[in-house]
Amino acid sequence: MTPRENGVRVWLQTTGAVVGILLLVQFVTGTLMAFYYVPSVDHAHTTVSYIEKVVSSGSWLRSLHHYGSQWLAVFAFIHVIRLFLDRAFAINRTQWIVAILLLGLVMAAGGTGYSLPWDARAFFSTRVAEGLMSGLPFVGRMARLWLLGGSDISTLTLSRFFALHVLVIPGLIAAVVVWRVFGWNLARVFGPRHAIAGGVVFLALALWCLKHPAPLGPSVAEATAEYLPRPGSQFLWLFQSLKYIPGGLGSITGVVLPGIALTLLILLPWLKRARLIGASLLGAGVVLVLLMTTAAYLSDRRDQHTREQLSRQVAEEEAWRHKPFEPARLTLAAPAEADAASGGPPATYIEFCANCHGKNGEGARQGRLNFPPLLDVPTKPRRTVDDIVGLLKDPTAYGLQPPMKSFSTKLTEQQMREIAEWIVKLKR
Ligand code: HEC
Repeated sequence: MTPRENGVRVWLQTTGAVVGILLLVQFVTGTLMAFYYVPSVDHAHTTVSYIEKVVSSGSWLRSLHHYGSQWLAVFAFIHVIRLFLDRAFAINRTQWIVAILLLGLVMAAGGTGYSLPWDARAFFSTRVAEGLMSGLPFVGRMARLWLLGGSDISTLTLSRFFALHVLVIPGLIAAVVVWRVFGWNLARVFGPRHAIAGGVVFLALALWCLKHPAPLGPSVAEATAEYLPRPGSQFLWLFQSLKYIPGGLGSITGVVLPGIALTLLILLPWLKRARLIGASLLGAGVVLVLLMTTAAYLSDRRDQHTREQLSRQVAEEEAWRHKPFEPARLTLAAPAEADAASGGPPATYIEFCANCHGKNGEGARQGRLNFPPLLDVPTKPRRTVDDIVGLLKDPTAYGLQPPMKSFSTKLTEQQMREIAEWIVKLKR
């Protein structure tokens, strides 16, 4: 082998490290963006614009994440090829399987990430993904439902992609990397006794939770002024302690002191008199928590007004639990072209009618005036396409009052017909 060839070989050994660095870049930039991003069709695009325009270096971070994902795919592929040429599949099976898994996971991360900004590109790529899934033999229908989180693209689709993108896939990638780096031995981590202890505790928790659903208070909008919030029991000690401590001192007691205590405990192995310090800190902690938690329960019990209000809240939550779910009406913030393709209103409707009848015929309010929705129009008599065209020319002939007026001078016959054809397809 010539020295030159040898040099190339040495550099080819680094593909794994490059993949590692690029993965790290994705984790860091992704985590930073997750501080701002909201996975809902109403907010996704706005929050991404916020990252781009307002967050300092946000645009750079997002670009690192975007192009980093493409470089990652390229290098993950090069890595597989390099390992193949080195016959890793025969020599180091773990290394080989990890590389293949990583390639697949990296592609999956890229695919799910594409939908998240919810720009026009995202919307159409989600449609493509939908088409790919539903085209699968046998399982197509189920796969589509699963991917979209329902019968059509909605906010649930976006949160589904988000969960896959930030939790499931990165979790799998981390597991694969840990496996590669530390040679994880599952059999050792889950020995039989550990499995039994873990299983028993899980069973106990599972049974407890069958009887006790997690509490859910009224929405902020519905909460009355009397509502008494209570934290989870693990924080009752803090809740109670803060009652005794005035304002600013609260943050010192609630954050700084526990912070110092935890830091000391972490540093314990390096401290002198470790046993004494550890015992004092933990002992003080136990006493404080027990004392304050008991005090919190007692003070809620003793005050009659508080007791009544709390039991009223419990009763209200119980009543709410038995009411059927009320869905909020979501408006899909799809781009205009998508609207036209999926039966959205013609542009002339938006221009001339939407002020009064709403963008999707849902009706509108202007000050104290309520303008009627058009959603029921198809079910009414004398409302065929021809009728609606006639009514747009001469509303009075159809018994309609001002401010609904004639549009003969503003719209052509063809435009009226387009609008009418859209109206007769409206459904509530
Ligand atoms: C200035 C507000 C306003 C604008 C603009 C307007 N409408 Fe109306 N429209 C009304 C009101 C108010 C009524 C109800 C009139 C009545 O029934 O007395 C009405 C009634 C209607 C009806 C009959 C509804 C029914 O219950 O059968 C149709 C159809 C209709 N409008 C279509 C249109 C179309 C199409 C446009 C645009 C080209 C338009 N309107 C623009 C205010 C408006």
